[in-house]
Amino acid sequence: MSRSKAAQDPKVLGRDERGGPVQVFFAPAGSRRRPTIDRAEGIYMWDTEGRRYIDACSGPVASNLGHGNTRVIEALVKQARRACFAFPAAFESEANAALADLITSLTGPGLERAFFVSGGSEANETAIKLARQYAVAKGEPERCKVIGRMPSYHGATLGALAVTGDPAAEALFGPMMKIMPKVPAPLSYRVPDGHTAESWAHEAAEALEREIVRQGPETVLAFIMEPVGGLSTGALVAPDAYHRRVRDICNRHGVLLIHDEIMSGAGRTGTFLAADHVPEARPDIVTLAKGISAGYAPLGVVLAPREMVALVAEGGGFAHAYTYFTNPLSCAVGLAVVQEMLEHDLMANARRMGTVLRARLEGLMAHSPLVGDVRGKGLLMAIELVADKASKAMIPLERMAPYRIAELALERGLIQYVRRTAKGAYGDWLMITPPLIVTEAQIDEIVSILGDCLEALAAELRAAGVALGHA
Ligand SMILES: Cc1ncc(COP(=O)(O)O)c(C=O)c1O
Repeated sequence: MSRSKAAQDPKVLGRDERGGPVQVFFAPAGSRRRPTIDRAEGIYMWDTEGRRYIDACSGPVASNLGHGNTRVIEALVKQARRACFAFPAAFESEANAALADLITSLTGPGLERAFFVSGGSEANETAIKLARQYAVAKGEPERCKVIGRMPSYHGATLGALAVTGDPAAEALFGPMMKIMPKVPAPLSYRVPDGHTAESWAHEAAEALEREIVRQGPETVLAFIMEPVGGLSTGALVAPDAYHRRVRDICNRHGVLLIHDEIMSGAGRTGTFLAADHVPEARPDIVTLAKGISAGYAPLGVVLAPREMVALVAEGGGFAHAYTYFTNPLSCAVGLAVVQEMLEHDLMANARRMGTVLRARLEGLMAHSPLVGDVRGKGLLMAIELVADKASKAMIPLERMAPYRIAELALERGLIQYVRRTAKGAYGDWLMITPPLIVTEAQIDEIVSILGDCLEALAAELRAAGVALGHA
């Protein structure tokens, strides 16, 4: 429908020029319309035309339980019937208390307090403000800088974006915010000349210490990082020694270590927290979202030590809240999600199926000239796309390779979650992050379709004269 026609027709005023609902206004001009969702169950989703899709990415790595989980839906309805909303300033809620008890029983000593918000960006904003209030309560008001990594992603709101490492986002929104210092992420595939993944990770940790010293340690409040990388690094896994070194550096300078586990937490990597993989490098604060409510309700969590929360409380309480913080409906959903995950031992399934998925993706790498690396942990996996494995040359950026794969996948009934970090400055990758309920047969189906998409892309690239290396 044309813009002028839509402007005249009151029934379709809310449509864009493609005839799509305006809530998809983030779509770049010229992009195709999406299918309309009808229903979803397990790892499958159906559109209103009856076409079936495999959710190979859990949406934006959120739907950890898959779709249509009866226990979660029943818990949601039950809580909705009791009370959809009760503001925490007026009421405590059983759902809130039960969820806090369950989550902190899984996170253990050092992370005994939980604060609930509506999502990942809010959780990181909250974590940073909690850290700040703690420093002030401790008598260290000059601590206000939060060091982040480059590249990284911590959320879309301006505070979370200020600690995010993405030069493209900085260029756009930088003038509106106070950009925080960044140190290199310990990228493992594209390491600078003369480095191995291990030596570069060591160097990346040393860079943190140098930056703390350069900033003035007494002014540095926290270091925020994803313990297992999400979309911004393509499931980066750093050596354990990196985590130990970072913990040690933070300890030495009185800097709080914040783990952003929005994508990697809640069981996705095979343990409840990604931090559990390196127990001797425990963070001071952890943020969770996405998988903690598995897409059934908006929920984010900030986990913090008892002493931190007590000191902030003594100083007058946490000066921070949202209308939907500690929302009973979201907490009831979160509780059912975590119970379901524990009852079905989905963390063990994430470990088992993660091993299967890695093996299948390595098989793809052996056959496709376009797969240069396979990495990740549990069911947080990624493949790095290249034009040439020997030189690690990227597929020309203007080919928009990850987005093209997502289109080819959609045509073949497979959903992919794609977003480029820093306009591709650090590489191009695809996340492979199915729900934690995935079976081996379903992984085979996902990887087989992905293999078709890679072949189709390789053929398109060759036809366009792009030189590709050997498989
Ligand atoms: C690591 C990480 N942090 C923070 C966020 C922001 O979470 P949300 O989109 O729920 O605000 C995301 C979302 O993708 C994420 O992956």
